[in-house]
Amino acid sequence: MPESPEGGTRIAVLVSGQGRNLQALIDATQAGQISGRIVGVISDRSDAFALERARQAQIPDITVDRHDYAHRATFDDALTDSLSTLNPDLVVLAGFMRILGESFIARFSDGLINIHPSLLPLYPGLNTHQRALDTGDREHGATVHLVNNELDGGLRIIQGTVSVVRQDDAQTLAERLMMNVETKILPQTVAWFANGRLRLDDGMAYFDGRALDHPLSQSDLDPEFS
Ligand code: GRF
Repeated sequence: MPESPEGGTRIAVLVSGQGRNLQALIDATQAGQISGRIVGVISDRSDAFALERARQAQIPDITVDRHDYAHRATFDDALTDSLSTLNPDLVVLAGFMRILGESFIARFSDGLINIHPSLLPLYPGLNTHQRALDTGDREHGATVHLVNNELDGGLRIIQGTVSVVRQDDAQTLAERLMMNVETKILPQTVAWFANGRLRLDDGMAYFDGRALDHPLSQSDLDPEFS
């Protein structure tokens, strides 16, 4: 349900780290490129720099510290409670480094997306940049996808690519991917959800009314995100 009565789509963002993807979402909402607002940022780490970015933008921030919970289920329950208070239309995992349980996913699945730094189905999980280098890939990329119970396994919405160059190490590749791809395809996906071009329903995604049977690409980006 993209349109809330006031202020457009209510977006909640879950983070664990630096928050460069969060910043791209903040910038796009502030620039009016997303018809919605970020109603809260939730981190599973109190030291995540992403929280500072939220505060700078005067967005409410919440920490649900993973260390306060002995079991994943109780952590998930606490996260569900915090997220429910924000009443989000869309939940964005933007560098959220925690695997979520089935009940959490079921609760928010009509609007739950993740950004993953690989060309899924290649390299689910961690160390994606090094794995692409070790394989000798000429191309690397990032994917925005729906979240389901399979790690990085939900339906792919959009992918973007960068070329791998001979001098690359995992860090240079990660930085180029972040700057050229992640910080564009994630806000673009949220903008499409907010303006109704992208509809999510029961593990499926519909773009301009048609079921997505293959991911969108950089060539589909609106000019303001390309
Ligand atoms: C990004 O590469 C994202 O794709 C991955 O974790 C990283 C988070 O970076 N899941 P940041 O916190 O957005 O700076």
